[in-house]
Order: sequence, then structure tokens, then C-alpha cells
Amino acid sequence: MLTDQDRIFTNLYGMHDRTLSGARARGHWDGTAAIIARGRDWIIDEMKKSGLRGRGGAGFPTGLKWSFMPKESDGRPHYLVINADESEPGTCKDREIMRHDPHTLIEGALIASFAMGAHTAYIYIRGEYIREREALQAAIDEAYEAGLLGRNAAKTGWDFDLYLHHGAGAYICGEETALLESLEGKKGMPRMKPPFPAGSGLYGCPTTVNNVESIAVVPTILRRGGDWFASFGRPNNAGTKIFAISGHVNHPCVVEESMSIGLRELLDRHCGGVRGGWDNLKAVIPGGSSVPLIPASICDEAILDFDWLRDQRSAFGTAAVIVMDQSTDVIKAIWRLSKFYKHESCGQCTPCREGTGWMMRVMERLVTGEAEIEEIDMLFDVSKQVEGHTICALGDAAAWPIQGLIRHFRDEIEDRIKARKTGRLSAVAAE
Ligand code: NAI
Ligand code: SF4
Repeated sequence: MLTDQDRIFTNLYGMHDRTLSGARARGHWDGTAAIIARGRDWIIDEMKKSGLRGRGGAGFPTGLKWSFMPKESDGRPHYLVINADESEPGTCKDREIMRHDPHTLIEGALIASFAMGAHTAYIYIRGEYIREREALQAAIDEAYEAGLLGRNAAKTGWDFDLYLHHGAGAYICGEETALLESLEGKKGMPRMKPPFPAGSGLYGCPTTVNNVESIAVVPTILRRGGDWFASFGRPNNAGTKIFAISGHVNHPCVVEESMSIGLRELLDRHCGGVRGGWDNLKAVIPGGSSVPLIPASICDEAILDFDWLRDQRSAFGTAAVIVMDQSTDVIKAIWRLSKFYKHESCGQCTPCREGTGWMMRVMERLVTGEAEIEEIDMLFDVSKQVEGHTICALGDAAAWPIQGLIRHFRDEIEDRIKARKTGRLSAVAAE
């Protein structure tokens, strides 16, 4: 459990002073030059020591990712690209950082870029985040005026430019290689990996793509030490983390907590509990729309981290916790997600282009109860044909929620089909 002193993003709750002077008062931009003077190797080692795993959803170790960038330049520029295309349904944590704490992101961008030999970084922000890009641009302008960006940024001896680039509303542009394509001015379609961006990224140059939260925590980790960050959570699941909690809780919120916090503790402490009480809980999607739900029966013991949720055949994802109470038509909720993924598929590979449509149409029949019982297994099989057979993770994201539904709510699906057949159910519309 975090105390207020442990929190990195204190401005999310307090005075909401996002100006440079407010940021300085909270300790940001303090000793930045001294951190950079300790050198690239020290910074990367400290990041490895912190145990920070990427906060965009996949959880790849950040320090390790940075170490993939070439140490020596072969003449190609190096780039840092910050993924602010936060589009995963239920996820709105990066939005809060950009609204209220933009300077810690900018400071983190400078330090991370130095550590990877990059003189230029881009923040790719989703098109719908209009207020956030205004806040961020104002902070970038302020930082340039104060000499914290540009030549000899923050008196570090490192020249560094930071640009804000707006997306145009496509979910797929949050996938890191589609994002790079879009940044290059092309249609946002994922590339095959490998090569990974560290070898060939933006304009074919060594590039690291990191999530907003991953970069925004960097200055505090380096000021307080990797060991300090690693002291929260469990081994392999270290640090503080921003959770976005929505759905059927009394007070939905975005809050920074310790990794590995219990689900029940998180909801009781920060959200006033489940609407109608804990016994009214039906299921929880623990990490944004692309991860399988977990049923109420295991929620009491649920630990919110990468390892515990993976062991339950779910995932930690973006730590966007979507709570569903007993009033939820869970079949309809997952059908709605199927529709979303079908709409957002870029259409480049067949299992995703065709599979998302197939899955959505069968899901629609499960919602209305007009399917046959055998179609449940068929749908599960189709989802397995999509999973792992596509260029990017959107295929998996479309398959996993359906698998979770069938695994945990098969009875409810069957009951609906039977009720429809016996005339007990007349009209559940998929809309
Ligand atoms: P991934 O596991 O393919 O990659 C994670 C990161 O590690 C990437 O930056 C990749 O380049 C790097 N990486 C992995 N293996 C590597 C290797 N061998 N060498 C060098 N670098 C390597 O996952 P991906 O596709 O980047 O992200 C999927 C996740 O994104 C999902 O888990 C989902 O939760 C999340 N997501 C987040 C959204 C958001 O709004 N924040 C939206 C949609 C999905
Ligand atoms: Fe495009 Fe889907 Fe293939 Fe990803 S999995 S590249 S979104 S068609």
C-alpha cells in the first residue's frame, strides 16, 4: 500500500498546478544535469535495478529495452518515441499524466534520450486527446523557454529536441510499428517484427518506443534509486503503478498504487467498493479491454500484477480495471468489444481481417440466443486460429476476451440459447 510520500504523480490529486514552477515545487527538474553526468551505463543499470516493466501493456523490462540501442553511432540518428496513443478501452492513465504532470514526462524524455544516444524524441498523442496535447505543448514551450530543452538542455551538455505529433483516431496506431509508420507520414499499418525498432525503427534508424507512464517515472526512479522503486510490489512485478478503475464501483478513479495490490483492497480503498456491495460483483476485466476477464469467484484473492494474472490465464495489460456487477449482460459486453476490434483491424493479415468479423458475428448470435450450442466450441476454435497467427497483437486482443467469456460464463451462454429455443427468451438485441 502506498503512502502519499511514495507517490510519483502527486499532482493527479492535489493542487493541479501543472506549470513549470508547480512541477519544480514538487521536485521535478531537480538535479537533472547531475543525473545525466553519471552517464549512460549508470542510468541504464539503475533502470534495470528498478525492475520497471513497460507500462503500455506488454510489460517488457524497460532497462533491458534501452540496452538494445546501439552504443556506438553508425551515422544513423537514434530516436526515442513516446507512445501517447492511449486507446485501449478502459485505459486513461497516461491522459492524467499529460493533463496534470507533463513536466515529469518531458524531463523523463530528456534523460531517457540521453541514455539511448538520441538527440530527438517524438511524443505521438492520440487525436482525441485535445486538452492533453494543449497542456503538453504548453509545457514543452515552457521548457524550451527555460532552457530545459534545445541546445545544452537543462545545462546537461546534451542537445535535445522534443516534438509533439497528433494521431488521427486509429486505434492501431498505438501498436508501436504502426505508430512509426504513421509518424513517417504513411498509413498506420503494423510492420513484421523482427527487426525490432531498436535495430530499425523510425526512418530505419535505431528507435525505442516507450509508453508515457514508463518515461514519466524515470526521473523519480533515478533520484530515489532503482532499489527504492523495486521495494514496491513483488519480485518481477516491481514499482508503483497507475490504475484506472471504471465500471460498477461507487467512485471510479485513476490512482497510483503499489504493484501487486489486492483487487479488493484497491476497490475498497479508492473507489468506495463495488456498487451494491462485494457480493454484487460479477466479473472484472483487470487490464484493459484486450485481456480476458476474471470471474467474481477469484476476485477476493486477486493480486493485480503480471504474474498472478498470467497464472489465471488473464493479463495485467494497462492496469485498467473494468468492474462489472450482477446487472451486467456479460455476453453483450464482450460482443461490444468484438465489434470494436473488428472495426479497428487494419485488414492487413487474413486471420485478423476475416477472424474478427467471424467472431463478432457469432458473438452477436450468442447475445440474441439465436446460436446453436455447438457454436460455442466453434467460436473458441476460431479464436485460437486468430491468436498468435497475426502480424500484431490486435488479433490476440480480439481473441482473448472471447476466450475468457467462454471459459468462465459458458453456462450463461448455454442458458440463453436454451431459453431462446424454448421460447422463454424473446428479445435480447445486439445493439
Ligand atoms: P510485445 O510483447 O510484442 O512488445 C513489447 C515491447 O518489447 C515492444 O516495444 C517490442 O519492440 C519490445 N520487444 C519484445 N521482444 C523484443 C526483442 N526480442 N528484442 C527487442 N525488443 C523486443 O507487445 P506489443 O505488441 O508492443 O504490445 C501489446 C500490448 O499492448 C498488449 O499487452 C496490450 O495490453 C497493450 N495495449 C495497450 C494499449 C494502450 O492504450 N496503452 C492499446 C492496445 C494494446
Ligand atoms: Fe492489421 Fe490485425 Fe494484422 Fe494487426 S493483426 S496487422 S491489426 S490485420
